[in-house]
Amino acid sequence: MEEMVFEIKRTDENGNMKTQSYNVPKDKVSTVLEALLYIKENLDHSLSFRYSCRMEICGSCAMEINGKPHMACSTTTDSLKGQKVTVAPLKHFKVIRDLAVDIDGFLEKYRAVKPYVIRDDDGKYDSEILQTPEQFHEYLDYSLCIKCGICMAACPIEGSDPNYLGPAPLAAAWRYIADNRDQGKKYRLEIVSGEEGTSRCHFAGECTEACPKGVDPSFAIQKLRSSMVGLEFQRLFRRR
Ligand code: SF4
Ligand code: FES
Repeated sequence: MEEMVFEIKRTDENGNMKTQSYNVPKDKVSTVLEALLYIKENLDHSLSFRYSCRMEICGSCAMEINGKPHMACSTTTDSLKGQKVTVAPLKHFKVIRDLAVDIDGFLEKYRAVKPYVIRDDDGKYDSEILQTPEQFHEYLDYSLCIKCGICMAACPIEGSDPNYLGPAPLAAAWRYIADNRDQGKKYRLEIVSGEEGTSRCHFAGECTEACPKGVDPSFAIQKLRSSMVGLEFQRLFRRR
């Protein structure tokens, strides 16, 4: 049977790194995640990685595959060129062990933009808040984020400034601002206009290109920037 070589960058609990190679049977349908499971079940029980849904929903199997961030569960080995696949943990994240990375900092940044509907009435309304299909489509694409961290690994600014809020949290800020039920725009614009907010983005567009769910963080950042300009104009007129 034809085989592929998986070269996996491994890190132990003491931070020691090594690259280890494994031969895995090659076929037309298996994913990188299935190849890793084959290695774990048949060749090396000690290999660590994260996964859950196996269908690009939970966001936990993101890793670098042949030098680019991808979801292991939706990348077929057949789609990769050559007989050798390199696998490494996501860039810009601290490694816990092997391919499992620490996502706490990422989730903290996500929480910082208040990713929930904020109401001036504290949710004490008498009837449903109606939403037209057009209003729903204003934010739908941004709500598809599965918090996989791939855009954070793809973003060159994240690599040089770990405090930068980053593409996914900024896209989440826009997702709620664009929601007609939300009244938290003023709080979020305050947050994203800070030193580590939208001004750090250079519009490389790598985040949008890498996102497996079709979220467009780069466009969300542009929308946030134009909203900030609008807010500044309003403030100026009020002062007069
Ligand atoms: S925006 Fe896309 S790449 Fe970034 S965390 Fe969400 S789903 Fe993943
Ligand atoms: S295992 Fe859930 S996204 Fe891949």
